[in-house]
Amino acid sequence: MPTAAHLAARSLRRSSRQALLAAAAVLLAGPALPENLAAASREQPPIVWRGPDGQPLPFARDLEVEAFLRDAEVLSSVPIPEGTTGARKLLLEHDGARAHAVFRSHHDADRGVHLEDGRRLAFFLDSYKSEVAAYRLSRLLGMWNVPPAVVRRVGKRLGSVQLWVEGARTQTTVQEKRIVVPDELLAWRTKQTWEMRIFDNLINNIDRNAGNILWSQAWDLWLIDHTRSFARATELPSADRIHRCSRRLFEALARLDEESLATELENLFGRFEIHALLVRRDRVLEHLRSLIADLGEDAVLFDLEAPATAPELDEPSERAWRRPARMP
Ligand SMILES: Nc1ncnc2c1ncn2[C@@H]1O[C@H](COP(=O)(O)OP(=O)(O)O)[C@@H](O)[C@H]1O
Ligand SMILES: [Mg+2]
Repeated sequence: MPTAAHLAARSLRRSSRQALLAAAAVLLAGPALPENLAAASREQPPIVWRGPDGQPLPFARDLEVEAFLRDAEVLSSVPIPEGTTGARKLLLEHDGARAHAVFRSHHDADRGVHLEDGRRLAFFLDSYKSEVAAYRLSRLLGMWNVPPAVVRRVGKRLGSVQLWVEGARTQTTVQEKRIVVPDELLAWRTKQTWEMRIFDNLINNIDRNAGNILWSQAWDLWLIDHTRSFARATELPSADRIHRCSRRLFEALARLDEESLATELENLFGRFEIHALLVRRDRVLEHLRSLIADLGEDAVLFDLEAPATAPELDEPSERAWRRPARMP
């Protein structure tokens, strides 16, 4: 079982490797990352990713994970039984490391669509590109709970490949098996849920069903399946579900600007989607500010601190991120 000191030492060794990787990436890729993203990346908390047998994977930082997802050989690809849009579970291998990933290749952009639940949407998007966009935007906001995802080809199909969160269970499973949150983690779970709702309104996610919410055993939230997000509507899809927000996310939202969005979401969306995203951002902030005016700041904004004492876990180091990530 790795101790905190082991993890810290390993993460230091990784950071020098990371510096080399980052330097190589800049040389190869040309333009540097936008300043706020680069700063956010430096703030990345150590994340212990795990392979199929539960063993820690030899990368912790986003850039390393992205390189793995892009370069790894696909050893196998099987349909995900619960899936409805043809998502597949991949087994990837690169440099001796093996990891599962999810491949989404569906792409559908339409107008004037009636959903099964009766909703009518002027703009509809269901695309693998949105998964990568959700990941990239989460990092711009200093959120670390969307697993890394890249665009790549698997066989003849272009799609998104996203790292698999091992050992997590969906909200569906939590409900079906009546898994109870320990009292000391109730607040932690609730605060993460509040953030999720802000994020979903921002990205115009119309599909946050219980199968798209993953909980680790430490009750860290992982957000997945954002394919039905980022359609260019300017209204918030579920403003009534916004009640509270972390101070960090509130500030990061206020700082979000068109230039960094255009850079981060380049090749994924055009200016209409980015414009609509910024209008929704303004509306989320407006909504929060009016709640603050009515209820007072402390009733709306909170500090997102992971619980100091970890609960009894099957695997203590499974907690992925302990402290809130801070934007510069
Ligand atoms: N990154 C991931 N890590 C762990 N499990 C995942 C991940 N992505 C998807 N899954 C699992 O696969 C299921 C189906 O994937 P999802 O992307 O939600 O497809 P669909 O569009 O068909 O709903 C999810 O409900 C979840 O159980
Ligand atoms: Mg889903």
